[in-house]
Amino acid sequence: MRHVQQLGAGHPRKIILDCDPGHDDAVAIALAAGSPAIELLSVTTVAGNQTVEKTTRNACVMCTLLGLSNTPVVAGCSGPLVRALRTASEFSGASGLDGPPPVEPTVVPAAGHAVDWIVDSVMADPGEITLVATGPLTNVAMALRKEPAIAQAVREVVIMGGAYSRGNVTPAAEFNIYVDPEAARAVFEAPWRLTMMGLDLTHQATFGCDEERRLEEIGSPIARFMIELMRYFRDAYRAAAGLEDPPVHDPCAVAYVIDPTLFEVASAHVEVETSGTWTSGMTVTDFGPARPGVRRVDVGIKLDREGFWELVLSAVERAGRSKAGSLGSNHSPARA
Ligand code: RIB
Ligand code: CA
Repeated sequence: MRHVQQLGAGHPRKIILDCDPGHDDAVAIALAAGSPAIELLSVTTVAGNQTVEKTTRNACVMCTLLGLSNTPVVAGCSGPLVRALRTASEFSGASGLDGPPPVEPTVVPAAGHAVDWIVDSVMADPGEITLVATGPLTNVAMALRKEPAIAQAVREVVIMGGAYSRGNVTPAAEFNIYVDPEAARAVFEAPWRLTMMGLDLTHQATFGCDEERRLEEIGSPIARFMIELMRYFRDAYRAAAGLEDPPVHDPCAVAYVIDPTLFEVASAHVEVETSGTWTSGMTVTDFGPARPGVRRVDVGIKLDREGFWELVLSAVERAGRSKAGSLGSNHSPARA
């Protein structure tokens, strides 16, 4: 295992965040918005935690609350490449962002499709854009199919997804991969630099009472919104997974771009199972010696939990201090 050296120190890293908000995706958006190390070019949405209509609206809600009026939200694929969509309402609720009082977004989706947006953005800025994906990989796989050259043009790809020990939908499969294993296989087989932040890593990113207390101390409207999100998420995880404190998966992928020294990663060969009766969606991970011609990815192993939460909560604090991050006491969205 090795500590990865700081990447791109000094200049903000340009990212496209492809996500399915979702409570933990919402935290990933807040981290990207509040971190000076990130230039959030766009938020693209995909069906996963909820339908793409709902994940898109939820992304607009978060961009409204965070004052991201100049960050395009672009809707993407409404379902997996081959299979029927399976959502995760047991964790995200009927809206996909249950918990806080409803917020009417002032940010509206940009015209066009996420797949085109990803391809056009990456090809127009070769070597500069990092693709962070925290939902099913349908959009990313479709972008590869539309323009295979994005594999060479993108700076790197960091995903939240997979697991090398145990899944969370089945014993074998993690949700983002389980929903669209055919898409995931295409993403893992593409010739780009890929880092997988799977459940073995993200289950170290638990939201506990210390983190809730820090949000209460921050006290901004966005911090209060996050508290209500996390309280719902915690209750859902206790009920559905029997976990005391919920693992906040998705911001781990953004945090890795911001400060990879918070992570220990290991190189591995990963194959995605697409045909197993009991194992479909499994990320079969081989940490064994590299073999000629066999693709390798980096896999998250260990998280500096304290450093991670410092990164996330300081970003929320920064976002809450910004002009547009204030909500007013009744959650009425800031005029973006
Ligand atoms: O398995 C956890 C992942 O599935 C997270 O990205 C969560 O938001 C859901 O998309
Ligand atoms: Ca997600």
